[in-house]
Amino acid sequence: TQYGNIFNAIGGSDAIERLVTAFYKRVGNHPALIPIFPDDLTETSWKQRLFLTQFLGGPKLYSEERGHPMLRRRHLPFIINPERKEAWLACMEEALLEAHIEEPYRTAIFDKLTMTANHMMNTPE
Ligand code: HEM
Repeated sequence: TQYGNIFNAIGGSDAIERLVTAFYKRVGNHPALIPIFPDDLTETSWKQRLFLTQFLGGPKLYSEERGHPMLRRRHLPFIINPERKEAWLACMEEALLEAHIEEPYRTAIFDKLTMTANHMMNTPE
């Protein structure tokens, strides 16, 4: 990536764990997201830790455990409209701050995730 290996630069798996914890705390309380996420976010958080590790240049943990990400396909069972995309990104933006991910990595990560989130939308309005 533009900034080399973001995973190492932000502090590796400790930073990913802080980020994912801060993120799902918000997801689990967001009215637009509650209807599509499971009540228990333990498994979801674990999958996201594996994915973000790999996505940010760390070890390919997600692919080892779950195979090819095929993220858009894995999201097709859920209605993802612009409101839910914005909600997801809002939770992530706050989580990046709470997890103390510093610049320039915070913006680099948010930009990468914004592109991915746009790609996950499968329902207009
Ligand atoms: C899984 C929603 C964007 C990564 C899920 C699940 C939902 C969801 C409901 C299923 C949870 C579960 O069964 O445990 C959304 C919404 C998004 C969004 C509303 C808004 C655009 C993203 C983005 C990423 C991502 C941008 C990239 C980091 C994942 C991963 C999984 C997942 C890795 C687990 C897939 C698996 O292995 O089963 N998402 N998601 N999602 N999401 Fe998203």
